[in-house]
Amino acid sequence: MRIGILGAGMIGGTVGRLWVGAGHSVAFGVRHPERLRKMLGEFGGSATAGPVLDAVTGADAVLAAIPFRAWPDVAAEIEAALGDKVLLDATVPDPPRDGAFGDAALAREDGVALAVTPLVPRARLVRVFSTVMWTTLRSQAHCAGDRIGIPLAGDDAGAVATTARLVGDAGFDPVVAGPLSQARRFDPGTAVFDSGMSGPQVRAALGIA
Ligand SMILES: NC(=O)c1ccc[n+]([C@@H]2O[C@H](COP(=O)([O-])OP(=O)(O)OC[C@H]3O[C@@H](n4cnc5c(N)ncnc54)[C@H](OP(=O)(O)O)[C@@H]3O)[C@@H](O)[C@H]2O)c1
Repeated sequence: MRIGILGAGMIGGTVGRLWVGAGHSVAFGVRHPERLRKMLGEFGGSATAGPVLDAVTGADAVLAAIPFRAWPDVAAEIEAALGDKVLLDATVPDPPRDGAFGDAALAREDGVALAVTPLVPRARLVRVFSTVMWTTLRSQAHCAGDRIGIPLAGDDAGAVATTARLVGDAGFDPVVAGPLSQARRFDPGTAVFDSGMSGPQVRAALGIA
């Protein structure tokens, strides 16, 4: 699959490396592509870096791994090219870093994800990779025994299936929590968030059979 990743930091770089290892074609969309040359050289697979818009245009699916505060500007830039593509959203507000936009998202009772959807109204958004620290992703992918559980939620069944497959390809256990409204159950402050739980433990915590 051709995957565009917006942001090549701790989350984007880590998940991108795992997807390249699984045989996917990864295009990072960043503000300074030239700075990524060394990292891409270490990937040893199919990965490129270019402007944010290029990464979206050429992708079958897009992972957002940018600071939460960047959403309004990035969404304005990509919305037309993104259209109804599958959008994996890993972004999490981190106060005070993410300012008023982040604070307002965290204050929502219906969940952080629903602060993003109005900015990309046609995208088939799935919230995923938002709960697990990058160091855990890097060290625990494809681990023996029960894999680390990655909860995900989205309204489009096809997008959810694609995302679950990509979570598995990265080396983790995808836990489908339901429609996007259910993503609030693994937002910051919940038992699942930043817990390092395995897939079976995440299912138990979320009451998923
Ligand atoms: N770190 C974790 O363990 C973790 C876990 C779960 C979720 N998250 C969430 O994942 C997101 C990324 O976190 P991270 O830790 O990977 O952050 P990071 O290491 O700071 O990386 C952020 C990336 O986004 C790029 N970026 C920043 N502003 C941008 C903009 N306006 N347009 C395009 N690219 C931009 C940065 O590159 P330049 O500044 O060079 O452009 C960098 O490549 C955050 O929302 C975070 O809350 C992080």
